[in-house]
Amino acid sequence: VFHSDLSERVRPYLDLIDSLRMIGIDQDLTLPAIAVIGDQSSGKSSVLEALSGVALPRGSGIVTRCPLMLKLRKLKGGVQWKAIISYKDTTIEFTDPSLAEDYVNEAQNELAGDGVGICDELISLEIMSPDVCDLTLIDLPGIARVPVKGQPEDIGDQIKSLILSFIEKSETIILVVVPCNVDIATTEALRMAQDVDPEGKRTLAILTKPDLIDRGTEKNVLDIVNNRVIPLSKGYIVVKCRGQQQIQDKIPLAEATRMERDFFRQHKYFSGLLNEEKATTQCLSTKLTQDLVDHIKKALPTLSEQVKMELLQSRTLVSECTEGPPSEPQQKKAYLIEILTLFNENINNLSAGEVVNEEN
Ligand code: GDP
Ligand code: NA
Ligand code: MG
Repeated sequence: VFHSDLSERVRPYLDLIDSLRMIGIDQDLTLPAIAVIGDQSSGKSSVLEALSGVALPRGSGIVTRCPLMLKLRKLKGGVQWKAIISYKDTTIEFTDPSLAEDYVNEAQNELAGDGVGICDELISLEIMSPDVCDLTLIDLPGIARVPVKGQPEDIGDQIKSLILSFIEKSETIILVVVPCNVDIATTEALRMAQDVDPEGKRTLAILTKPDLIDRGTEKNVLDIVNNRVIPLSKGYIVVKCRGQQQIQDKIPLAEATRMERDFFRQHKYFSGLLNEEKATTQCLSTKLTQDLVDHIKKALPTLSEQVKMELLQSRTLVSECTEGPPSEPQQKKAYLIEILTLFNENINNLSAGEVVNEEN
């Protein structure tokens, strides 16, 4: 799912972030995560599945019941696929991709109970493979309008506040998933995204199920994709994921990607979208990676300044330490007074609510 020349251009930045991550960069730089939101059954999990290459629980009704953080880590070639799922006190490592779906279901049942309830505890699934792109994606429960049997009356509000807690962070890129065959103007998820991101700077809309639209509505879909209905600065991308039939027929994801490309290539109205880079999951993945790299590039100068400051301070400290206390009795006394004065100053400043950044 990854464009090779793009990969070469962005690789240095992602490598840099990888090495910074190992020394704990996450504490200083919030790397953007991508939250996927939309109505129930709009195709959120299917989009994530296509991006990650890993089959996830999906289908009709409420399937995603806890936030699932999917951390995709691209490894250099020749390395085995590996994943780690963790939630609460559980951590399980596994090497068979086909187990992911069961593990996620198990985790959901443990956190949200068997049935139809939701829970805001996070499940983290880290996937390391040469075939994924470096992205962190968050799958969220879909917005349900009417509670089903066994769900609390306020399930809709519960889900909305869970979604809000993720999309209100300014580092979060919001992927709003809307099926081509519903009225986009009435989409609650898009409204929520517009509330937290009025200028649409971090909102990208994904139109799913282009194979299911009614004949005669193709031009309406094109109007939306071309930003003529609800303009978004990051725009729209149309993707075709596996339908229920293709899942039942066990069509592999790689094959589905090929079929997606053919679908657009042969489409009377949508084929032009390929060249405009407004269609396919591959195009979506490229765009998201580019967004991630842009964010890193923007954050680098500040980060570099911070590192220089830290280094300078540490050097000053070290140089003072090497000298040690003087041996002459007279100088020793002056040295002690100096330290005590400083200590006193620090105490005073501390009680005034401000610490002097000095040797401690
Ligand atoms: P979610 O509830 O938003 O996570 O939606 P899912 O990913 O579970 O998808 C709901 C249903 O729509 C599943 O049966 C999918 O197979 C189907 N689906 C998703 N995307 C497409 C698509 O592009 N075309 C078709 N025909 N079906 C799709
Ligand atoms: Na669903
Ligand atoms: Mg889902």
